Amino acid sequence: MPPSDHRPGTLIEGGAVFPHRHLTGIEGLEPHEITFLLDEAERWVDAAPGGPEKRLAGLTQINAFFENSTRTLLSFEIAGKRLGADVVNMHAAQSSVKKGETLIDTAMTLNAMRADVIVIRHMSSGAVRLIADKVDCPVLNAGDGRHEHPTQALLDALTIRRRLGGVANRRVVICGDLLHSRVARSNILALTALAAEVRVCAPSTLMPPAIERFGVTPFTDFDAAMEGADVVMMLRLQTERMAGGYVPSVREYHLRYGLTLDRLERRAPGALVMHPGPMNRGVEIDSAVADHVERSAITEQVAMGVAVRMACLDVLTRRRRGVEGWA
Ligand code: CP
Repeated sequence: MPPSDHRPGTLIEGGAVFPHRHLTGIEGLEPHEITFLLDEAERWVDAAPGGPEKRLAGLTQINAFFENSTRTLLSFEIAGKRLGADVVNMHAAQSSVKKGETLIDTAMTLNAMRADVIVIRHMSSGAVRLIADKVDCPVLNAGDGRHEHPTQALLDALTIRRRLGGVANRRVVICGDLLHSRVARSNILALTALAAEVRVCAPSTLMPPAIERFGVTPFTDFDAAMEGADVVMMLRLQTERMAGGYVPSVREYHLRYGLTLDRLERRAPGALVMHPGPMNRGVEIDSAVADHVERSAITEQVAMGVAVRMACLDVLTRRRRGVEGWA
């Protein structure tokens, strides 16, 4: 899909094309701002790893991860390095957080080191906003508690847009542990903003109350939810965030909500299958679906993650780099 003609500094609808200092969530972004970030990501999708312009040369990017990550941490690191930034990773396990340092003191320490951009993952909802309010540089949310994971939603939207030619009017089914999922929340906000028809499916114990207010249709019957789907996005059962018995058993959950090849072929032949990872194979998704050459977009999602994070790092540091039109 060709990028739109939005350029840095272009004024649309009476305001700057992306006026935000931080990216703490999809909430608060206008549809045209989401589209702008997707368009910006397009330029990095096919860029050769050694080739992109070193727009962030001389800038220091700190990735402060207070919770485990494979995909997000690595892709932010690769994205920053491809753009020429000096990338430093801080893992909570090796930090003074273990000695009782408060989040605010950690934020003040990162700020004193004059980081140019900070990427944060934290187990508490709202922690990223708290840090963003304390530091002088742009902050990107790499996932905070159950709140948001905005770059995951952007990479998912980019994957859908490239595979299906657009997001508007596509029927997207998001199935799994909606109650604990920041990915679901950010995806619902992004996909509804881009005019997709979003269905959500979970057992009633894992369905957030009053979810209809987000403009989605809730289902507890996965087969019914999948009817006519263009995209089926599966979510992980987040056992680490569950204190009680939300599902009778993993086997029962798999029978009712697991995506098998047979279920996919019966209910949504032709649908694109997505999963943000990490996957519980044999629980919410079978390997025959996850590894399906034509139907699964899971590795493509990971590839789009690097492009989206390059775009976000580039856009959010433009003001700091004095890019014309971003003062
Ligand atoms: N999708 C995602 O956030 O994966 P990681 O936890 O591995 O970063």
